[in-house]
Amino acid sequence: MRRPIVAGNWKMNTEPGPSLDAMVSALAHHPSILRAHHAGITVIVAPPFLSIATVAQSMHGTAVHIAGQNCHHEESGPYTGEVSAQALFASGATWVLVGHSERRRDAYEDDALVGKKAVAAVRGGLTPIICVGETLEQRTAGITHNVIAGQLLGALAIAGRDVFAASVIAYEPVWAIGTGLAATPEQAQDVHNHIRNVLASAGVSIPVLYGGSVTPENAMELFSIEDIDGALVGGASLKPDSFGAILDAAEATWRVA
Ligand code: PGA
Repeated sequence: MRRPIVAGNWKMNTEPGPSLDAMVSALAHHPSILRAHHAGITVIVAPPFLSIATVAQSMHGTAVHIAGQNCHHEESGPYTGEVSAQALFASGATWVLVGHSERRRDAYEDDALVGKKAVAAVRGGLTPIICVGETLEQRTAGITHNVIAGQLLGALAIAGRDVFAASVIAYEPVWAIGTGLAATPEQAQDVHNHIRNVLASAGVSIPVLYGGSVTPENAMELFSIEDIDGALVGGASLKPDSFGAILDAAEATWRVA
């Protein structure tokens, strides 16, 4: 089933205080949110952990869902500095990113750990958005398809089919993240189609989002690509108007005529 999703990943931006309150209030009342919701698009924002509870409270009664940017693979215990899926859920989150390339890079997360985190997320009541993507070196070496299949199947081997069936994939080419250089429609379609085939061979059919320099300017073109079901937006999600413009592009693409 194709369910369009647009998620904003705030990363390590914003801090609790008046400027965050103003941004959240502008977002909560943004007309694009309601239009997107009426068009059947799921709208998600992923604030830093410390702001999840207050953002969730402010978004209560709106169509905006809250995601964590990461979770630990255990429910509780001696894991200093970590956050469980259960704690995220209790704070108002219903989604969580797992295996974002910045965590694979900075926290050395591998495919097996990503699979464990997806299991923990589902057990804790969250829908995992499992992120995959190749580096520029891997693309240049012509191994993009192998890398992506390896990431998907590596996590799937640990998480199992049922957890994957309850998840969403985000394809984020590492070279496109924060660079202003989004994948071309041909590059995106090629990998999205590959992801769909790899998942289909495991009996899984789930939404596949594109991420990496999505902006109000290129959103419409990306959304019109056959195998793209939405977006994971970083930088452009930090301004309510630019996130709203991306939601408008989604609404124009997927509105039921
Ligand atoms: P970007 O980030 O839109 O700023 O490129 C996307 C992401 O990393 O999720």
